[in-house]
Amino acid sequence: MTTAPIHIPTAAGSGSAATDAFRENRGQRGAATTDQQRIDTFARDVLGRIHEAIREHHLTYPEYTAVKKWLIEVGENGEWPLFLDVFVEHVVEDVVNSGRRGSKGTIEGPYYLPGQAELPATCTLPMRSDEKGDPLVLDGQVRAVDGTPLGGATVDIWLADDDGYYSGFAPDIPAGNLRGVVTADGEGRFAIRAIQPAPYEIPKDGSVGQLIAAAGWHAWRPAHIHVMVSAPGYRTLTTQLYFRGGEWLDSDVAQATKPELILDPRPGADGVLVSTYDFVLDPEQ
Ligand code: DHB
Ligand code: FE
Repeated sequence: MTTAPIHIPTAAGSGSAATDAFRENRGQRGAATTDQQRIDTFARDVLGRIHEAIREHHLTYPEYTAVKKWLIEVGENGEWPLFLDVFVEHVVEDVVNSGRRGSKGTIEGPYYLPGQAELPATCTLPMRSDEKGDPLVLDGQVRAVDGTPLGGATVDIWLADDDGYYSGFAPDIPAGNLRGVVTADGEGRFAIRAIQPAPYEIPKDGSVGQLIAAAGWHAWRPAHIHVMVSAPGYRTLTTQLYFRGGEWLDSDVAQATKPELILDPRPGADGVLVSTYDFVLDPEQ
């Protein structure tokens, strides 16, 4: 008797896929500053703080060498998107979105892919016929901060499967699985059938995992659903929804949870869990 091989994503596999996705997508969006003074001030400040940490902790030469080796390996494995989105992005998000009056944003993470299936307001995400996990419906309305319903808004949604893996970044999951771009109805309403995602663990076999293990941290993110909500004339909202009582909610390795983003699923008429969340968008500045 033969057993089918179990393909567990590796850090280098997920990392290089995330690096490629970044180069093709997010890395093309938006222009950074070319203001020499701003670059000078920021780069000097960052380097100065590294120097300070080295002095304060009396870094040794073997430690400096280990850090240098580790940094080289993070790049070789393509793990920079994983590392940065877990340990740094939450602060960027906090700074950029501090002035929003509508729904709270949180990190995008490394696993967004554009161009997914376009779906109507009431829909089921593409999934395998034997997709594991409890069915879950996310419904709600997209509105502006002044309460105007935003008919035709889009909810671009992506989530991990019941094993905590994302399509496009792990072997053996069909392309586009548990991803879709949903157009809300004329009243901004949507009802998306998916599954209850599982918590996500950063691959531990790579350099980022090595740091996490060496420091005695854990590598978990609580179960979450990613969304990017847009409507013409409004600031796009990138956020994630979590689940009340979910494991790792209070110790997310990516520090990306917020109390306003926690769902309370309830059994719907047919026994399927339903979570309602209304997305409130800020006008473009
Ligand atoms: C990472 C993965 C995620 O699913 C997420 O939401 C944020 C960060 C990561 O591995 O870097
Ligand atoms: Fe995620």
